[in-house]
Amino acid sequence: MMRTTNKSINRRDWLKTTALFTGGLTMLPPVLQGLQAAPTASEAAVTSLVSSGLSANGLTGLQADAALEPRISGVLKARLFANENPFGPSPVAKKAITDTLDNGYQYPFMLLKDLEAKICAYEGLDAKMLMTSAGSSPLLLGTAITLLGNGGNIVSADPTYDDLPTRCEKIKATWIKVPLKPDYTHDLDAMEKAINKDTRLVYICNPNNPTGTIVDVAKLKDFCERVSKKVPVFVDEAYIDYLPDPAATTLIESVKKGQNLIIARTFSKVYGLAGLRIGYVIAQPAMIDLLGEYAASGGYALSLPAITAALASYNDKAFIAEVKKKMEASKSFLYETLKSEGYTYIPSHTNFVMFPLKMEGPRFVEEMMKRGVGLRNWKLNNEDWCRISIGRMDEMQAFAAAFKELS
Ligand SMILES: Cc1ncc(COP(=O)(O)O)c(C=O)c1O
Repeated sequence: MMRTTNKSINRRDWLKTTALFTGGLTMLPPVLQGLQAAPTASEAAVTSLVSSGLSANGLTGLQADAALEPRISGVLKARLFANENPFGPSPVAKKAITDTLDNGYQYPFMLLKDLEAKICAYEGLDAKMLMTSAGSSPLLLGTAITLLGNGGNIVSADPTYDDLPTRCEKIKATWIKVPLKPDYTHDLDAMEKAINKDTRLVYICNPNNPTGTIVDVAKLKDFCERVSKKVPVFVDEAYIDYLPDPAATTLIESVKKGQNLIIARTFSKVYGLAGLRIGYVIAQPAMIDLLGEYAASGGYALSLPAITAALASYNDKAFIAEVKKKMEASKSFLYETLKSEGYTYIPSHTNFVMFPLKMEGPRFVEEMMKRGVGLRNWKLNNEDWCRISIGRMDEMQAFAAAFKELS
């Protein structure tokens, strides 16, 4: 299906807005030097993570997931800590990867153009509005450096996917955290009030990781229209493909109307390509140019198998429907297990679920790990919660068996 691009942004106004809120980019080289010197997922942090009972404090989302990995490899019956999709990659993607291996000596520039053209044709975008990378993570980091390299603050919900805000803190910007509402959804009014003259970016994860909740779309569209006139809004849509109608929820249309938004998408979730690393952002051409200065992107950042797999499975409706069906069956099983053990949970729109624990989070994770089940603990309203990713049915059964011993 082809959609059309609406009026594009007035470039001069947009640059005015961006200049106002980035305060110039003259200090970026020193910031980058600082980044090189500063450890990110330092050994010390990983060691303390393990010794403190696998608490995720101090590590960004992906670092915490990665830190669990060495601890559990070999004994794992259920890998439920990184919101992956064990029903992927699609058979078509797997075959395409095998078929392309003979071309592994080639830089993948031309193939990437094909994928970008396919995405742009589907979304009705100008090619200048798209930037691809090895997953969306490098683009989150690139955004942090580009927009908060001179300091200022980022406004986000709390809790949310903390990779981008934590990166901002590491480069000495401030993270303004706005608590979720009692129903665990974003408090857009409070977020708007929290924006001040030093705000350089607003981050919204929709659906939200770790709560699995969604924002009211009409409200989010109004919010973005108003707020993006003052400051760029980053909408992380990593899990949007799990919704019944992603097209009705995405903010891509607002970008096409010229609003100063950055929309992040990834092939790591419903497409099951997390290990292959491919994702993208959609934004105004001037913002794409700006991000391109500091975000590793395009043919030198992406591998041939990743592009091949994405090209083969992009928008494969039958495959996506199959993934969602299996995921929903596993999720229903999880809900039943939790209910039968006397636990509550936040109903989730995604492939992970949060539920409140009846013991200390780090101890729960440790005990589950001993039983071969990897998952994550979280602090929410100062209480201990678990975030469990939805896996294959055998993994959910392994979880249920271990959980019944502890609950
Ligand atoms: C909300 C959100 N955004 C972005 C990412 C990064 O994903 P990737 O770098 O694999 O695209 C994740 C990973 O779990 C995520 O949960």
